[in-house]
Amino acid sequence: MSVHSQVKRVSVPQLMACKGQRKIAALTSYSAPFARLLDEVLDMILVGDSTAMVGYGLPNTLSITPEQMAAHAAAVVRSTSHACVIVDMPFGSYQQSPQQAFENAASMLAASGADGVKLEGGAVLADTTRFLVERGIPVLAHVGLMPQYVNTMGGFKAQGMTEESAELILKDAVAHEQAGAFGVVLEGVAEALGRRITETLAIPTIGIGASPACDGQILVTEDILGLSGSRIPKFAKQYCDVGAVIRTAVEQYANDVRTGAFPAMEHCFGVKKAGN
Ligand code: KIV
Repeated sequence: MSVHSQVKRVSVPQLMACKGQRKIAALTSYSAPFARLLDEVLDMILVGDSTAMVGYGLPNTLSITPEQMAAHAAAVVRSTSHACVIVDMPFGSYQQSPQQAFENAASMLAASGADGVKLEGGAVLADTTRFLVERGIPVLAHVGLMPQYVNTMGGFKAQGMTEESAELILKDAVAHEQAGAFGVVLEGVAEALGRRITETLAIPTIGIGASPACDGQILVTEDILGLSGSRIPKFAKQYCDVGAVIRTAVEQYANDVRTGAFPAMEHCFGVKKAGN
C-alpha cells in the first residue's frame, strides 16, 4: 500500500490539541451507513450506549452488553477512515473494579478497533480512568447527567442546579482530568457550570445540553435528523426530517410493488428471455 493511500484518523492527542483552537464536532453512530456519512465531516464519532434506546427501543441504556457495543463499534470502525471512534462502556462492565474495566475495555477495543472508551461516573471512578489510561486505553469521562444512573437520579434530569451539586460535578471533571482522561463529556448542566468546567480544565469538554461554552458538542444523530420519533431532548436541534423522506420512499416502493411497477429481473441482470 502506498503511503498516499493511507488515510490517518483523527487521534486522541489531536482531539486534545483542539482545546482553545477550534470546537470539536461529534455525533453518535451505531452502524455502517450512518458512520460512512458522518466520517469526513466530524472529528469524533461516539458509538454510544444510547443505541439501547435509539436502536433497540429499550427504555434506558442499562441492558446493552459489551459484546453488542463491540459489534456496533466494529461496524463503525470498518466504515470510517477519518473520525476518531470512541465506544461507550456499557452499564455493569466497569463499575466493579478497575481490573473488570480493563478486561472489558481491552476486549471491546480489540474486537472493534475503536480508538478509546467513554465511561460515566464521578470522582469515584477516577481510579478506573487512571488504571485504563496507564495501561494504554484512552478514556473520555462522562459527568453531569449520566444516563446509566437513571435509577439513582430518578429520571433523565438536568444536574448541578444547586451550588453544592455544581461544585461536585466540577470536582468529578477535575478528578478525571487528573486521572488522565483525554476529555470530558458534560451532559445536562447549565451554561454557567459548562463554562466554568471548560475554563477550569486543560482537556476538552464536549457538551450535550451543556451550552455552547464547551470545547465541542455531541448529539445523538437520530435526534438531529428527525429519526427519533417523539423522544427528542429539548436541547437537540433538528436539522432535517429524514424520517419524512424515508416514509415517502417506502410508500412509493409499496405502491410500485402493489401496482406491478417493480423492475423485472431481465432489466436488472440482462437475463435473456427463454428461447433467445
Ligand atoms: O450514549 C450516548 O449516545 C452518549 C452521548 C453523550 C450522546 O453518551
